[in-house]
Amino acid sequence: MGDMGKSHGWKQYPRHVANAWDSFIDWRRRKRGERSFFIQHLRRMNAVNVLDVACGTGYDSIRLAKEGFEVTSLDASPHMLERAKYNAAKERVILRCVRADWKKLDSCFKPASFHAVIFLGNSFTHLFDRPDRESVLSSIHRLLKTRGMLIIDHRNYDMILDTGYKSKHKFVYCGENFEVIPVVRRDDLIRFSYFGKKHHWFLDIYPIRTNEMLELLANAGFSKIETFGDFERPFAKYGADFIQHVAIKK
Ligand SMILES: C[S@@+](CC[C@H](N)C(=O)[O-])C[C@H]1O[C@@H](n2cnc3c(N)ncnc32)[C@H](O)[C@@H]1O
Repeated sequence: MGDMGKSHGWKQYPRHVANAWDSFIDWRRRKRGERSFFIQHLRRMNAVNVLDVACGTGYDSIRLAKEGFEVTSLDASPHMLERAKYNAAKERVILRCVRADWKKLDSCFKPASFHAVIFLGNSFTHLFDRPDRESVLSSIHRLLKTRGMLIIDHRNYDMILDTGYKSKHKFVYCGENFEVIPVVRRDDLIRFSYFGKKHHWFLDIYPIRTNEMLELLANAGFSKIETFGDFERPFAKYGADFIQHVAIKK
């Protein structure tokens, strides 16, 4: 994929992006959109230890820590992690932070360390190569205890690729002052442009379709996979902005 000088994974999160990320999320609106979806699913299986494997600026980690979960927060971008620690201090929450690449997960934690792993905010789509997607999901599967839960999400790329990008601005990334435009839209690459009042950056991602995600989850050994669109089920294929999968380790 070197043809367009595609940008790479966590290196797309330098300091100026990390500093703008929270206004791109809009924590209050994100919480309103998801309500207690994640908390309910994690409580349903009595999760205690949760790995937030793409913690970014800490939105999910902080929310779950406040709810009493024991959260480990991992990210490879030092700037996103720094911001997560800053946000945690503001909210009087202590986060257990780990700086690592997903490709090194097996050397960071012992097998069966977690009741649940969350992989949220359209993060998995930073993996452009199929073998990387497979091996990262296998590592996560190993890190989970038996009957552990993975919750993973992505934008609705079936909609974006087949019918075009649109957004209700109500889910996940809700900042009103940002305009998101896919300036490149191909089956193997989407380059999003993010325009805010004071910010502008690009993000390159792999547009994973729901069927591929389901196939990868099953191949990695997950079962009982439930799929939601904007936190609801059933949902219209081209109607939801974000897709969530809740999968159980066999
Ligand atoms: C789209 S952001 C999502 C952050 C957060 N989950 C949220 O919802 O706001 C993706 C995050 O994944 C991290 N990331 C991307 N590639 C990674 C990799 N290979 N290993 C670890 N973290 C990575 C980035 O640094 C970034 O913080």
